[in-house]
Amino acid sequence: MTELLTGATGTTPGARIDADWWRQATVYQIYPRSFADANGDGIGDLPGITSRVDYLARLGVDAVWLSPFYPSELADGGYDVADHRNVDPRLGTLADFDAMVAALHAAGIKLIVDIVPNHSSDQHEWFKEALAAPKGSLERDRYVFRDGLGPHGELPPADWKCMFGGPAWDPVGDGQWYLHLFAPEQPDFNWHNEEVRADFLKTLRFWSDRGVDGFRVDVAHALAKDLPDDLPSEAQLQAMDRATGTHLLWDRDEVHEIYAGWREVFNEYDPPRIAVAEAWVDPPARRARYASAEGLGQAFNFDLLEADFDADAYRKIIVENLEQAAASGSSTTWVFSNHDVVRHATRYGLPPNGDRPRHYNRAWLLSGGADPVVDAEAGLRRARAATLLMLALPGSAYLYQGEELGLGEVADIPDAARQDPTFFRSPGVDVGRDGCRVPIPWRATGESYGFGPAKAHLPQPEWFGEVSVEAQSDDPGSTLNLYRDALALRRELQTDESLTWVESEPQVLHLRRANGWEAVANFGAAPVPLPAGEVLLASGPVDGELPGETTVWLRN
Ligand code: GLC
Repeated sequence: MTELLTGATGTTPGARIDADWWRQATVYQIYPRSFADANGDGIGDLPGITSRVDYLARLGVDAVWLSPFYPSELADGGYDVADHRNVDPRLGTLADFDAMVAALHAAGIKLIVDIVPNHSSDQHEWFKEALAAPKGSLERDRYVFRDGLGPHGELPPADWKCMFGGPAWDPVGDGQWYLHLFAPEQPDFNWHNEEVRADFLKTLRFWSDRGVDGFRVDVAHALAKDLPDDLPSEAQLQAMDRATGTHLLWDRDEVHEIYAGWREVFNEYDPPRIAVAEAWVDPPARRARYASAEGLGQAFNFDLLEADFDADAYRKIIVENLEQAAASGSSTTWVFSNHDVVRHATRYGLPPNGDRPRHYNRAWLLSGGADPVVDAEAGLRRARAATLLMLALPGSAYLYQGEELGLGEVADIPDAARQDPTFFRSPGVDVGRDGCRVPIPWRATGESYGFGPAKAHLPQPEWFGEVSVEAQSDDPGSTLNLYRDALALRRELQTDESLTWVESEPQVLHLRRANGWEAVANFGAAPVPLPAGEVLLASGPVDGELPGETTVWLRN
């Protein structure tokens, strides 16, 4: 185990540094339409990102993960891709993309792009061709078409539900229906089709040749499907075992043949391109194959994102994930927030959300953020403590734009401004994910708080000015400066991928890295004695003892 782990750090000399850069990287997720708007159309764009590279460099991130920037009708925030090898004209051009890559690389920042292989947009040329072509055609074989039931095919082939609510099969007018596990505008590809497979290899090379360093693979566990002639019902589908690799839709073992082919492409490059899988699998041990060196190489571990602020829960998650990572030969990943979940500064200001999913407080969102009332101060205090602990763990840390500002969820977006398909497909049940996608505030004042010259595409609340980059930049106690300090120190202190636990009180987690870098997190409300060592950084005021809900970094 130690052999796998040692040397996998930024301290190894020579070419290995480059090949292993991802193992303990800090990766910053940019949701491009909500990051920075250079041309004033209210939508963030690639020149906007380029204009903020200095900010990213000063923040101290190793890499950017860019959510989809491809041509899209925006039926699902860009995850409905009309052309996998181009840039949405509202976001820029391929030349703008090249300029952004050059600027990031010049600042020493790598770039990971989102790739969406499970489905395309219904505006994709291939789907248009499929609609224009007859049943049984090669054009239809690139997607998942089935005859409808009933004398004229007027009934769906099965009663399956899609992820955003409503049916998963939609008719195309000639008795056939197509499958969409997500929105109707996101038809699922047929991964048994060789053209589909070849086209994605082309896409991987297209972006790799343009200098992209890696890929975040969207719903990586859904590509391989095995649909029998007699489709099961939704209830039967739900009851199927997901743990054996034989479920008809999710996490089938054959999916790894696809990724073995991708790995060959990644390894054509020097250093090899990297990938991280978004794979929601159960049991978690099934993540290992996605993360293996023969596959994508790394997989998201969403366990901390689903955890309550609780020492026992955190400890169990940390131990299990480090073991799993070691077993797969990969490093683990940590994440609290992304474009799909309620921001963690808000989650931690709400009472523990017993219902699944824990990272998505559905009832609270439905109430417009009114019930229960968020304890914003406690939420931020806990988020800062949790993040500082996370940044001391071995493995990669994935951050989501705006969390470095301690940004909370925007819960009171008017219905008329909502964009997420979840809102439209689950009326009165779910409002969706717009609240974490509101364009981030750069300046304390102005029409869009510095996001761009015009109003932002999602309404920003008045409190955004107080938490803007401008408001925080020169305040040594701000969350922005906590992140800056933490990322700079993390880089300096980074060491091999092991940790040891130091005995502590039950509400405290105290860990030590190989070089004497320690993190002590007090999850309780009451202060505890501060362990010995030089205090390097703290998530809140520390004076002689370690206050409740505070993390400190020490050197011994
Ligand atoms: C992933 C993305 C999410 C998107 C879905 C469908 O889960 O993170 O935003 O809606 O895939 O592409």
